[in-house]
Amino acid sequence: MNAPAHFPKPRLLIVEDDEGLQRQLRWAYDDYEVLVASDRNAAVDLVRSAEPAVVTLDLGLPPDPDGVTEGFAALETILTLKPDTKVIVASGHGARESALRAIASGAYDFYQKPVDIDQLGLIVRRAFQLHELEGENRRLESKVGEDRTVLGSMITAAPEMTKVARTIERVANTDVSVMLLGASGTGKELLARGVHRTSRRRGGGFVAINCAAIPENLLEAELFGYEKGAFTGAIKTTEGKIELAHGGTLFLDEVGDIPLPLQVKLLRFLQERVIERIGGRRPIPVDTRIVCATHQNLEEMIAAGSFREDLYYRLAEIVVRIPSLAERHGDPALLAKHFLARFAAEMNPQVKGFAPGALSAIENWSWPGNVRELENRLKRAVIMADGKLITAEDLDLAAPAADGLPVNLKAARETADRAVIRKALAQTDGNISGAAKLLGISRPTLYDLLKQYGLQA
Ligand SMILES: Nc1ncnc2c1ncn2[C@@H]1O[C@H](COP(=O)(O)OP(=O)(O)OP(=O)(O)O)[C@@H](O)[C@H]1O
Ligand SMILES: [Mg+2]
Repeated sequence: MNAPAHFPKPRLLIVEDDEGLQRQLRWAYDDYEVLVASDRNAAVDLVRSAEPAVVTLDLGLPPDPDGVTEGFAALETILTLKPDTKVIVASGHGARESALRAIASGAYDFYQKPVDIDQLGLIVRRAFQLHELEGENRRLESKVGEDRTVLGSMITAAPEMTKVARTIERVANTDVSVMLLGASGTGKELLARGVHRTSRRRGGGFVAINCAAIPENLLEAELFGYEKGAFTGAIKTTEGKIELAHGGTLFLDEVGDIPLPLQVKLLRFLQERVIERIGGRRPIPVDTRIVCATHQNLEEMIAAGSFREDLYYRLAEIVVRIPSLAERHGDPALLAKHFLARFAAEMNPQVKGFAPGALSAIENWSWPGNVRELENRLKRAVIMADGKLITAEDLDLAAPAADGLPVNLKAARETADRAVIRKALAQTDGNISGAAKLLGISRPTLYDLLKQYGLQA
């Protein structure tokens, strides 16, 4: 695949101190303009002057060729200078740990040494594609202003959530297991699909199973499959969800609801990567990436003996906590506009927007059911709306006065106070001294406010 001559070739920087390998790599990439650096300073200079889109970085560089200090220092500087650079790090024999650490610090991917040129070539090509795609997205975003999509389908403009998306982009390409923790309706399933879609397994299937929705006695057959005749009713051999996810991603939703005996079986699969169907004798190897989610407190369950700690660590190589909707600044209104446009187009095209006051009612609501609640309220409101504009009443949200303004400044302050106090209390798990500290007021003052606003437990 040669780049057309009139386009400048994309730039690749190879940071590698082994000259033989330098030459070999240079050869492998005639689609790119290849630059080579043998140490950190030379690499950083080239990043400044040539702004390569993709960098392959050997972590062991002089003066510390057997360690990783120079490599990590280079990684950090490169990403500070040009955060959109895709850095692919080389990890020596069995140095998975430093590779994962590099990814956590913002590297795009890693490859094992000794180098497999074909495999590295693929990683490099994907890195260029992603870089180009992201650049395009940024250009589009700055054009349409409010359409903020991350991971292909998540709408957000909140730093709390873009951070989550970035973490997911970083780990997507590794095969580490990802555990998504979030209250109901925060977007766990959407994020799980995001992991799959950004991973190199996206050509394979995304297989989801909700462990809470399937009766305990059927869950084993759902997960592991069964041979014909294994039990009454097993009229034909059936593959389980795990097997179906071969080559793709397996999403174990509500993983906290897997009963203990099945946890043991699942653990065995995660350790050995083979399954046996119920009634089967043949071990079947399965290569799949595991993403799981739960709204339960697994640490408490582990302490209570209802969730196995060893299974937890297999499932939770990376833990991603998803903020509640109320914690994502600006997102309730942004998402409300998105859902209004979507449902209006699908179900009631006469609806054109929000009446005065509706958006501030949306911003002030606490959204205990998160995005799912917002989606449902908008759907209902759009279906029921008589006019062109959705009002706070249509959304069933306590409305401020008809002109969209609170009654007076005192009321506005009170609303703001309540919201921020509730948030501080949530962050400190109801600890009054802690919340007072966060709010920069004294404990007695916070007590007075709690009384005044009727917020005591
Ligand atoms: N950031 C977002 N942008 C657009 N739609 C979203 C976003 N987050 C969630 N949704 C939508 O909200 C609904 C709930 O999301 P999802 O099912 O992923 O949440 P969940 O955490 O799995 O919820 P539950 O605990 O109820 O299973 C879905 O219809 C999803 O498409
Ligand atoms: Mg879900």
